Amino acid sequence: MKRMKPSSLLLNTIVTMLLYVLQATSDSPLNNFIHCLPHHSHPKSPTSAAIYTQNSSSYSSILLARISNLRFSTSSTPKPLAIIAAKHESHVQATIICAKSHGLQIRIRSGGHDYEGLSYVSEVPFVVLDMFNLRSIHLNLANGIAWVQSGATIGELYYRISQRSNVYGFPAGACPTVGIGGHISGGGYGNMMRKYGLTVDNVIDAKLVDVNGRILDRKSMGEDVFWAIRGGGGSSFGVILSWKIKLVPVPPKVTVFRVKKTIEEGATDVAYQWQLVATKLHEDLFIRVMPEVVNGSKEGKKTIQVSFIGQFLGEIDRLLPLVNKSFPELGLQRSDCTEIPWVNSTVFWADYSIETPINILLSRKLSQIFLKSKSDYVKKPIPKAAMEKIWDFMVKGENVWMQWNPYGGRMHEISPSATPFPHRAGNLFLIQYYTFWEEEGIEATNHYVNFSRSFYEFMTPYVSRSPREAFLDYRDLDIGTNPSNSTNLHIARRTYGSKYYKDNFERLVHAKTLIDPENFFKDEQSIPPH
Ligand SMILES: Cc1cc2nc3c(=O)[nH]c(=O)nc-3n(C[C@H](O)[C@H](O)[C@H](O)COP(=O)(O)OP(=O)(O)OC[C@H]3O[C@@H](n4cnc5c(N)ncnc54)[C@H](O)[C@@H]3O)c2cc1C
Ligand SMILES: *[C@@H]1O[C@H](CO)[C@@H](O)[C@H](O)[C@H]1NC(C)=O
Ligand SMILES: *[C@@H]1O[C@H](CO)[C@@H](O)[C@H](O)[C@H]1NC(C)=O
Ligand SMILES: *[C@@H]1O[C@H](CO)[C@@H](O)[C@H](O)[C@H]1NC(C)=O
Ligand SMILES: *[C@@H]1O[C@H](CO)[C@@H](O)[C@H](O)[C@H]1NC(C)=O
Ligand SMILES: *[C@@H]1O[C@H](CO)[C@@H](O)[C@H](O)[C@H]1NC(C)=O
Ligand SMILES: *[C@@H]1O[C@H](CO)[C@@H](O)[C@H](O)[C@H]1NC(C)=O
Repeated sequence: MKRMKPSSLLLNTIVTMLLYVLQATSDSPLNNFIHCLPHHSHPKSPTSAAIYTQNSSSYSSILLARISNLRFSTSSTPKPLAIIAAKHESHVQATIICAKSHGLQIRIRSGGHDYEGLSYVSEVPFVVLDMFNLRSIHLNLANGIAWVQSGATIGELYYRISQRSNVYGFPAGACPTVGIGGHISGGGYGNMMRKYGLTVDNVIDAKLVDVNGRILDRKSMGEDVFWAIRGGGGSSFGVILSWKIKLVPVPPKVTVFRVKKTIEEGATDVAYQWQLVATKLHEDLFIRVMPEVVNGSKEGKKTIQVSFIGQFLGEIDRLLPLVNKSFPELGLQRSDCTEIPWVNSTVFWADYSIETPINILLSRKLSQIFLKSKSDYVKKPIPKAAMEKIWDFMVKGENVWMQWNPYGGRMHEISPSATPFPHRAGNLFLIQYYTFWEEEGIEATNHYVNFSRSFYEFMTPYVSRSPREAFLDYRDLDIGTNPSNSTNLHIARRTYGSKYYKDNFERLVHAKTLIDPENFFKDEQSIPPH
């Protein structure tokens, strides 16, 4: 806007005229944005078919289809002025160019699993760039690689691999509806991390649309930016169109098991022992510990049940002696174990029964619930007495579970500066805290969010400190934020920057300054430029 210095005589008239103009064209940034799009899109792929404004009949269903946390689908949740469901790479380019030139913020959404809704909520006028139509998966099995577009889900990736090969897999997460775009850029992990590291440890190239609408690959974006998007969150740097990933070998059969013990059945002793051995177990073996609140044997009395959920990259006959030797306290029996192809194990980990046909992996219907998630890193075993206090705290909260995910193996070999993800050697396990509820309304939200925060407070003595580390893909706005529309370097460095990235934060700032010096790509926890 041009600066004007009106004389006081004219002031009234001008203000009145301005107000009139603003009112008459109150949706003009949006209209200008929409009219701008065709000028920057591929002529054979019109953007008109990709735009949903608040007037469109399918606006709501498109918006809601990929909101996994119901806390961000209420009537008071700020809504995008429009959703651009890109059908062609040029639509991504056009959205960036036109949003920038017409003063709209964009939020980028792939699978919509962000725990704090940052992919579809902002406090300032914004549009959502929705990637779900850009979901092709090109496998090159001769070379053991694949190009995967951001809008694909990890379930689709697992399924496509299995249709062509039974010797390859990919070390990504457990929930099949999670989007490739957010999952990988946040440093996503799964049950093969002890053998193969994180998703980002198996990425070899990427296509990124930058703030000027240019499509860059690893070579043209440069090593600093390519490093940054592998765990620094994509949304600070540009829009990731696709990732080139390295598939990893899996045996023809893997073994899964789920051993459950309540505290009355000795769960505390076994979980304590798990803390001592879990990082040292054979790297083919991953055992997640999952404490949750269940009904006790006495009427009306809750207790804690701990599930030991395991995956072994091999057959039962090799697993049993191994567990008998390194973790006999688990008491694992042959009858607890099932041998299945790797792809069937992804169905088991998604919490479906083991016989469920694997085409469930193609379902894009996500489970939706009100939730608050948080994370912590544990560097020394939690004493048994403290574990008992933790169980008591959980029983009082009722709607809560935890997952303890063991590190060690490959996770401890990779340098903490190899990618922005800094939580490598020295960590025993990652805790995810998950508080959930079904009641609508602000009262329930306040109650459960408050519980989640007090539980986190309670855990302080047992977890990492200075900084209290956190996992980006388990996004938590409580650890520090900036406003939607500006990113303060000092706030970022002091709070979420050091917790998510530790010493890697400064290199992320450097990469941000190279690729988006004007800070167009921003959200409450984005990386600021210098
Ligand atoms: C039920 C459930 C299970 C989960 N299980 C696991 C697990 O096993 N392992 C694990 O590591 N994590 C897990 N997560 C966390 C998950 O990895 C993160 O929430 C991840 O960021 C989700 O990616 P998305 O594309 O679905 O989310 P979105 O909400 O679409 O995006 C998340 C973030 O990434 C940004 N982003 C998305 N796409 C792009 C893109 N193309 N370019 C640039 N930025 C982009 C968004 O703007 C946002 O900031 C789980 C989450 C849920 C809800
Ligand atoms: C939405 O509809 C209203 C009323 O019909 C109209 O005034 C407005 O311009 C429309 N907005 C868009 C973005 O199409
Ligand atoms: C637990 O007990 C409550 C009643 O106290 C009951 O409503 C609920 O269905 C039970 N849950 C399970 C999983 O058995
Ligand atoms: C476990 O090892 C012990 C000896 O250390 C042996 O007596 C026992 O039979 C083994 N159990 C299984 C299930 O292999
Ligand atoms: C694995 O999944 C396939 C496809 O759904 C199914 O046919 C097969 O029976 C499953 N295998 C086992 C061992 O469950
Ligand atoms: C929040 O939770 C704590 C501990 O559970 C409790 O003491 C406190 O009263 C709660 N506050 C609110 C506002 O609910
Ligand atoms: C951010 O938005 C707030 C209100 O939404 C506004 O007051 C402030 O000026 C904006 N800041 C910037 C840097 O745009």
